[in-house]
Amino acid sequence: MLSLLVINSKGGSGKTTVTTNIASYYAGKGLKTAIMDYDPQGSSMQWLNARPAHLQRIHGANAAPAKGTALRSMKAWVPNETEVLVIDAPAGAEGLLLKELVRKANYILIPVAPSPIDIRATANFIRDLLLVGGARTSTVKIAVVANRVRSHSTTAYVALERFLNSLKLPFLTSISDSENYLHAAQNGEGVFDMDEMATASERQELMPVMRWLQGYFPNRFGVRADDKVVSLESSMKYSAYRGGK
Ligand SMILES: Nc1ncnc2c1ncn2[C@@H]1O[C@H](COP(=O)(O)OP(=O)(O)O)[C@@H](O)[C@H]1O
Ligand SMILES: [Mg+2]
Repeated sequence: MLSLLVINSKGGSGKTTVTTNIASYYAGKGLKTAIMDYDPQGSSMQWLNARPAHLQRIHGANAAPAKGTALRSMKAWVPNETEVLVIDAPAGAEGLLLKELVRKANYILIPVAPSPIDIRATANFIRDLLLVGGARTSTVKIAVVANRVRSHSTTAYVALERFLNSLKLPFLTSISDSENYLHAAQNGEGVFDMDEMATASERQELMPVMRWLQGYFPNRFGVRADDKVVSLESSMKYSAYRGGK
C-alpha cells in the first residue's frame, strides 16, 4: 500500500487541500483509496461527507481523538485491500503522535505557504520531523511543495523558493492560490473530478507530486503489500469499496 502522510505543524498550510486532491486523483484512476484524518477539526471527513455519490468512493478513517479525551477513535481503520492511503495530519503534531504518523507512512509531503511565519515554522517542523519523528533514520521519502502561490515574483514567494531549495529535500511544485481548490473543497471533489479544461493549470501543477509517488508503483499501478501501515482491524474481511457510499 502506498501511504502518504501530508503534514506541517502550521495550520492553513494546505494539508487538507493536498490530501483530498491526491486521494481523489488515485480514486479516479480506479485505485482503492482511503483518507485517514488525524485532525480533530475533521476537514477531510467533512469533505468526504460532501463527496457526490457518482464519484469514485474514498474510504474515510477518523483517527482524531474523541472530544475531551486523548484516545483516538475506534473508527480509525482502513480496509485491508486499500491501495492508496493518504493521511491528513493535524496542526502541531509533535512527540509520540509525530512518531506514530511517520511510522505509518512511506512518503511524506510537506506543503508550505509563502509567508515568513510559515517558513520559520516549517524550518522548525522539518527538524522535528527528522529528529523527533524519526524520519531521518527511516526509509520514508520526504518532499516539499509550495502552496497558495499567487505570483512567482512576490517577495514572500522568492523567500519561500529560496528556503525550499536550500533544504536537502525535493521541492516538487508550486500549487497556485486558486478558486478551483476552494470550489473543490466545498463540493467533496478534487480538481481531477472537475471540468478538465477549467482545471488544466491545477492538474498540471499537481502532476509532479504523482510522478514522485509513481516511484512507488514500479509497474505502473501494480500494487504490493506493505507492513508499514497498521491495519487496525486486520482480521476484518470487509470490502468497503464495493457498492456506493
Ligand atoms: N492552493 C489553494 N488555493 C486556494 N485556496 C486554498 C489553497 N490551499 C488551501 N486553500 C484554502 O485555505 C484554507 C486552509 O487550507 P487547508 O488545506 O485546510 O490547510 P490545513 O489543512 O493545512 O489547515 C482552506 O480554506 C483551503 O480551502
Ligand atoms: Mg486540515
